[in-house]
Amino acid sequence: MKQVFKTRVTEELGIAHPIIQGGMMWVSQPELVAAVSEAGGLGVLTALTFETAEGLADAIARTRALTSKPFGVNLTFLPTLVPKDYGSLIDVVVGEGIGIVETAGRNPEPYLERIKSGGARVIHKCTSVRHAKKAEAIGCDFISIDGCECAGHPGEDDIASLVLVPLTADAVKVPVIASGGIADARGLVAALALGAEAVNMGTRFVATRESPAHDGVKEWLVRAAETDTMYVMRSLRNTERVLRNEVAEKVVELESAAATACACSPAARSRSA
Ligand SMILES: Cc1cc2nc3c(=O)[nH]c(=O)nc-3n(C[C@H](O)[C@H](O)[C@H](O)COP(=O)(O)O)c2cc1C
Repeated sequence: MKQVFKTRVTEELGIAHPIIQGGMMWVSQPELVAAVSEAGGLGVLTALTFETAEGLADAIARTRALTSKPFGVNLTFLPTLVPKDYGSLIDVVVGEGIGIVETAGRNPEPYLERIKSGGARVIHKCTSVRHAKKAEAIGCDFISIDGCECAGHPGEDDIASLVLVPLTADAVKVPVIASGGIADARGLVAALALGAEAVNMGTRFVATRESPAHDGVKEWLVRAAETDTMYVMRSLRNTERVLRNEVAEKVVELESAAATACACSPAARSRSA
């Protein structure tokens, strides 16, 4: 495979191109992950999608049946209404000899020693320079820095990649991966110019043939304008960028009436039934 850009990320992760498909709940299934890795990038499975240790082990086996190239597993540590059994998911990651782990959400420090005990390199995805410095200090090997353009959780600071990527590249010694709002070769070249050594993309991969998303969603994404996304859950300090639709507008309306995440939890629903 012809290599165009050689960076510390391509060298250390053993991939041809500095392009990572970030972990995406429900979307990064084995077929998509393997296709990205086969094409010379890095595909990343999302552990929480598979819920149980057995489910994750099965997804890893299915991915390995489709590619012999490197791929990673994402572990997202965010507040959830139903507690997650991270310990058993990490046991699978270590037991299966997964060499690359993408962590995201909260500080991964409580889990880092165990994750790295099998020799995995850790990419920590974060949204601020202070969190990037902290991740480097606790031993993460790569920093994936999400500007507020990103889908999913952009953090609470609203700093765009044009500012965040060079500041992070100046602040840490480990390789930096630029994430958020990147969808084509122009974004890749710009990210490299800003000091990143790879890009991480999510939304663009949702709209691929290999993605399990419904065709209607893919068409919607391709047609969407830059104003067609919005934030939800800002009032809970758990901000998420989503496509603008009726459900998202309703969530913001409920938030403005002081709703909490627990208002729609199974426990709360059964109490009010
Ligand atoms: C549908 C979808 C689901 C996502 N789920 C997760 C997730 O479970 N964990 C995570 O760390 N990031 C998740 N992300 C964020 C992506 O990994 C990536 O950081 C982000 O999409 C980059 O911004 P972009 O969409 O502008 O390329 C998700 C993104 C999308 C679009």
